Amino acid sequence: MNVAQTKRIVLGITGGIAAYKAAELARLLVKQDIEVQVAMTEAATHFITPATMQALTGQPVLIDQWQDDKGMAHIHTSRLADAIVIAPATADFIAKLAHGLANDLLSTLCLARNCPLLVAPAMNRQMWSNAATQRNLQRLISDGVTILGPANGMQACGEEGMGRMLEAEMLAQDIVALFQPKLLAGINILITAGPTYEAIDAVRGITNRSSGKMGYAIAQAAIELGAQVTLVSGPVALAKPSAAQAVDVTSAAEMLEAVKQHVAHADMFIGVAAVADYRAARQNKQKLKKSDANLTLELIPNPDILAYVASLPKPPFCVGFAAESEKLHEHATDKRRKKKIPLLAANLAQNAIGSDDNELVLFDDAGEHVLPRADKLTLARALLRHAIALYRKGSK
Ligand code: C5P
Repeated sequence: MNVAQTKRIVLGITGGIAAYKAAELARLLVKQDIEVQVAMTEAATHFITPATMQALTGQPVLIDQWQDDKGMAHIHTSRLADAIVIAPATADFIAKLAHGLANDLLSTLCLARNCPLLVAPAMNRQMWSNAATQRNLQRLISDGVTILGPANGMQACGEEGMGRMLEAEMLAQDIVALFQPKLLAGINILITAGPTYEAIDAVRGITNRSSGKMGYAIAQAAIELGAQVTLVSGPVALAKPSAAQAVDVTSAAEMLEAVKQHVAHADMFIGVAAVADYRAARQNKQKLKKSDANLTLELIPNPDILAYVASLPKPPFCVGFAAESEKLHEHATDKRRKKKIPLLAANLAQNAIGSDDNELVLFDDAGEHVLPRADKLTLARALLRHAIALYRKGSK
């Protein structure tokens, strides 16, 4: 599915060092079949060239309000847009937006719009925390403008703090989300993702090769569809979807605790985490010393988080995952029955772990449904559509 098809956004670039990330953002949006019309302030052209943006979007870049053939660029460009995204938005441009100024093409375009406006601030941490900037942002929020980020981290000026623009990938996700039909509006979804890490001693542990990509893709797809998402994640190297309530955990025991804390509000629980089946019976506080003797490690079983949730007196609609290395049908059917869950998504571990795409087979009361090989976000969207149909049927 690509509901973003035929959507058109105006990507407004203002004069900050994060302007270089706008090139990647444009590329990612074009890849999702979104038509991108770039409009830059004069200051932005000092950071990134219009030629770069034109090459990436295939459209001439708008800069000067006096150079338009038809003389009404601010009206017709904003009329054609499904959304305007300002990335990066400087403190100065945010101030202009907050006060309704229209003294260049981009600010005029924003004022003349009748579509959603999304703003990705990027500035030095002191400029960000300045009372004037915060006041302007509050004004924008109450005017219905969506603020994306900023993030905390290292800044171009060498300082560290709030004000970094969100990464292009995250911004692209938020923009695509805007165009998805909100099938899951009002639904709370609790998701576990990634591996768990079971410590043996101060530096060693048991884990697995789960990357967290499938769970994070499901979180992202659920947000796109309007759900409130709580993402309980084991240690992974992925950026969190910005709209998810994120809970970081390490071990299976911590994951279970986090799930217990949040499950009461969940309408749906999706256990994607590759929870370690066993943990060390004893965890040494200090690093174990090497010796010539054999070492036997005693392992004890971890709690099954999905089975725990599914057996609650009033369980949320539960979706499980199964990664098998063989006999997919047999093991998946057996697992679904044992864990007493209405829907189980199974895949072959050798196809799935760590990769960007996958193939899923869904098992439910009606039988088997194959979701053919695709990237994990596409699969996540298809899985959620299937899950929501079953959830709605069950709750009638
Ligand atoms: O039994 P198996 O580990 O193959 O089951 C996989 C499914 O069960 C996944 O949905 C996984 O998130 C969940 N699970 C769990 N807690 C465990 C083991 C698996 O929630 N301890």
